Amino acid sequence: MKRIGMLTSGGDCQALNAAMRGVVKTLYASKEEVEIYGFLDGYRGLIYSKFRMLTGKDFSGILTKGGTMLGTSRTPFKTINEPDENGLNKVEAMKQNYYKLQLDCLVILGGNGTHKTANLLREQGLNIVTLPKTIDNDLWGTDMTFGFQSAVNIATDAIDCIHTTAASHGRVFIVEVMGHKVGWLTLNAGMAGGADIILLPEIPYDIDKVIEKIEERDRKGSRFTIIAVAEGAISKEDAALSKKEFKKKMEKYPYPSVSYEVAAAIQKKTGREVRVTVPGHMQRGGSPCPYDRVFASRLGAEAGKLILEGQYGVMVGYRNREIVKVPLEDVAGKLKMVEPDATIVQEAKLLGISFGD
Ligand code: F6P
Repeated sequence: MKRIGMLTSGGDCQALNAAMRGVVKTLYASKEEVEIYGFLDGYRGLIYSKFRMLTGKDFSGILTKGGTMLGTSRTPFKTINEPDENGLNKVEAMKQNYYKLQLDCLVILGGNGTHKTANLLREQGLNIVTLPKTIDNDLWGTDMTFGFQSAVNIATDAIDCIHTTAASHGRVFIVEVMGHKVGWLTLNAGMAGGADIILLPEIPYDIDKVIEKIEERDRKGSRFTIIAVAEGAISKEDAALSKKEFKKKMEKYPYPSVSYEVAAAIQKKTGREVRVTVPGHMQRGGSPCPYDRVFASRLGAEAGKLILEGQYGVMVGYRNREIVKVPLEDVAGKLKMVEPDATIVQEAKLLGISFGD
């Protein structure tokens, strides 16, 4: 008999359900008797003992469904060792609930923050297997996370739609793509959507270089310019500030986000009409694309296999076209960023895309 707990934590994304279904289908297909406990709303469910016992029926018909059937929440790792408002020790509570249900393993689906807590639980002696989810594709140890390709599709669709209206009006258009710390989504959607300028958190921009590119396009007779801007894009001036100075600047920041700051600067310096579009959480919503359905199912199947073999303490990842297991201690606390001299960035530059650097 295997007793498995499962939870989804952090921002949701497409294919969370597909991944859980993959794990459970694999377990049910084995000769082992299995009980599945689904903890609700991420680590909160594990802390406060909110769970549902799940059966095969719960996993039927969910391959194509976005979101997560278990619900999710953000439980910051930063404060995980602090007692809650009622003095409860959250880590101890999670351990106790794990032992009370006599679980053999916890399957945790999440991104960066989630993996830090997952690794902490492993250090505390719990059996953990994780699956890499996030539209940001920024988890260390895996070339790909599920949710990413679906989000690239949505952000690309947004840029495609903007292209036609930008061309009609001869405007400069900014499409703000999700990603506060890393720019994989913006880079890929920007390239797929034919953006002329891509601004990423990893490559601080110089607004004059951005304007140079717009003016170069004007001179060549292009009526419009599309700029894909990551939520976390940052100017060279701001990148040079200390943390304290930057925080102070943000206290009086007059814009809803960096895209509006870029738009205002372009408008002021060139007199051009600039518009901003923010697809926002649409990028995390809706049905997973076929790639993510297959990918998440494969990861889920491999996680199921590891559980049946009693192999724990790992994230099931994907490297060089192979599904691999990566020790949790290697994954936790690291980000997979876009290197400014990565080949994909160099290729984008060969295509004439400006990064404002
Ligand atoms: O989950 C990743 C992500 O979508 C980032 O791309 C984005 O910056 C952030 O989450 C948004 O968080 P929230 O849903 O809490 O507003």
